[in-house]
Amino acid sequence: ESTRFYDFKVQTKRVTKLCNSKDIVTVNGMYPGPVVYAQEDDRIIVKVTNKTPFNVTIHWHGIRQRLSCWYDGPSFITQCPIQAGQSFTYNFTVVNQKGTFFWHAHVSWLRGTVHGAMIVYPKNRVPFPFKAPYQEQLIILGEYWLQDLQQIEHATLVNGGAPPPADAYTINSHPGPNYNCSINDVYQLNVIPGRTYLLRLINAGLNTENFFSIANHNLTIVEADGEYTKPFTTDTVMLGPGQTLNVLVSADRPVGKYSIAVAPYKSGRIVKYQNVSAIAYFNYIGAESNSSYLPAKLPKPDDKLAVKTVMDGLRSLNQVSVFKEIDKNIFITIGLNVKKCHSKTPKQNCQAMNNGVLTASMNNISFVHPHISILEAYYKKINGLYTEDFPDAPSKFYDFVNGAPNNIPYDTESLNGTRTKVLEYGTKVQLILQNTGTVNIENHPIHIHGYSFYVVGYGTGNYNPLTAQFNLVDPPYMNTIGVPVGGWAAVRFVADNPGVWYMHCHIDIHQSWGLGMVFIVKNGKGDLESLPHPPPDLPTC
Ligand code: C2O
Repeated sequence: ESTRFYDFKVQTKRVTKLCNSKDIVTVNGMYPGPVVYAQEDDRIIVKVTNKTPFNVTIHWHGIRQRLSCWYDGPSFITQCPIQAGQSFTYNFTVVNQKGTFFWHAHVSWLRGTVHGAMIVYPKNRVPFPFKAPYQEQLIILGEYWLQDLQQIEHATLVNGGAPPPADAYTINSHPGPNYNCSINDVYQLNVIPGRTYLLRLINAGLNTENFFSIANHNLTIVEADGEYTKPFTTDTVMLGPGQTLNVLVSADRPVGKYSIAVAPYKSGRIVKYQNVSAIAYFNYIGAESNSSYLPAKLPKPDDKLAVKTVMDGLRSLNQVSVFKEIDKNIFITIGLNVKKCHSKTPKQNCQAMNNGVLTASMNNISFVHPHISILEAYYKKINGLYTEDFPDAPSKFYDFVNGAPNNIPYDTESLNGTRTKVLEYGTKVQLILQNTGTVNIENHPIHIHGYSFYVVGYGTGNYNPLTAQFNLVDPPYMNTIGVPVGGWAAVRFVADNPGVWYMHCHIDIHQSWGLGMVFIVKNGKGDLESLPHPPPDLPTC
C-alpha cells in the first residue's frame, strides 16, 4: 500500500456559462474538481485549505471510513466546518474498497460546485472481472444554476416552496447545444471504431435523478456504488444524486457522431422538467467534424418502468451470504411534509400546504443539525445536543398490522429533532424504508455513511411483510438506494464500523428540509473510546 497526498485549495473562480459569468466555489479552481486516484487499501491524505468566506467540509462519498469516522466529513455530524482561512487534513485508508467514488462538500449546497471523482484501482494489478476496456472515461453529471447556490437554498427555505429546477443539466460541467450560448460548450468523447470504453458515471447533481443514454449504443453495467455487479446490458441507466455506475460501451456502430444525453427523472409534476437535456458527443474518430449528431432516445421524465428495469438489473457479481436472523428491524417512513407540526401542536402553528412550509422527515422527525458535531458531543460527553430516541417505527402516527403500518401514506406532519439511533457493535440491522410521499415526485436516494448495505428487496406501494419478495442470494451492495416513489426498499447491514454515521436523502433540498437521521454505532467495548482519538487539528465550532 502507498500513501497519496493531495492539496485542496477551496477557492472561488469566475466561470462563464449560458451567457452569464459568476463566481463559483471550486477546489483548485477546477469544476469539477481534481480526481483523487488511489489503489485499494491505500492511505489518502488531503489537506483542505479554505480560502473562501464560507464554511467547508469534504465528504468521501462511498468510502466506508473503517475506524476513521472523524474524517467522514458531514458538517455538524462528524466535524465542525473548516472556517474561512482555516485548513484541515483528512487522513484515511480505503480498506478493502475499489471502484468509482466521489468526494463532495458536505455543508449547505456547496456540493453543487465542490465535487470531484475518486477512482480506486484494484490492488496488485488484479484485473477487472470483465474484458479490459481499451480506455476509461469519467462522466460526471451535474446541475448548474445562474443564481448563487446559497441564495437559492436560503430563498427556498424562507419561502417554503420547492426550489427552481437547474438552469442547465451538465455533463463534465458542459451543458451542450440544447442550451443558450452553449453550442460550443459541449463535452466530446472521441472513440476509436471497434474499441470498448469503460465509463465511470457519477451523479454529482444536487436535486435531480437523471437518465443517461447514448444514441444507438448499449450500456453494460458492471459496477454500482463501487462494487462489481453481474454484467447487465440496457440502453438507458438512471442515477440518483450520490450514485455511481460503471458501464461498458463499445464503439460498434457505423462511424458517426452520436449524442450522449442526460435528462431528469421526475415522476410527478413534470411540466417544468420537460424538453431539457444535457448533450455531449460520442464521436467516432473519422466522423466528419461538422456532421450533425444522432439524438438519443431518453425515457419520458416519469418513466418508472425504465427506472425499475435498471434496479432489477443490479445484482452482485458473486453470490453473497446475507444474514437471515435480524437483530434490529427498523421501519422508517421517508417523505415530504406540508406541516411542521403534529396533532398536539396548537392549530395556529400549523400551516396548510399552499401558504405553508415544506419540510421532510424520517419517521415524521425532521432532522435538525446541532451546533457542535454529534461525534464530538458523543466522544466528549457533552450533553444536550441530541437525543438517543430515534424510534424503530413511526408508532405514534400509525396502526400496525403484521409488523408494518396499515395506513400509509399518512405523511403530512413532522416534528423537529436531533434524534439518533444507538446500535450495539455487531447488530444485524434491517431497514425498511417506506416512501410515503404524498407530494413528492421522485425516488428518495437514501445514502448511509460508513457502510454499504445489501439491497434485499424493494417494491411499489406499502411494504407488506407477508408478500414482500427478498433476494438474499445476489443483492447489490450499495451505499445509496433510490427508494421508489410510492414504494419501499429493504436493506441489511451489520453494524460493525463504530462511529457516528449520517443517513440522509441525497437530494440536497430534501436534506435541507430535514430528511435524515444519525446512527451511533458503539464499539465492541460499548463506547467509542478505543477509536482513534480526534485529530488535534479537528475544526472547532
Ligand atoms: Cu454524498 Cu452525506 O453524502
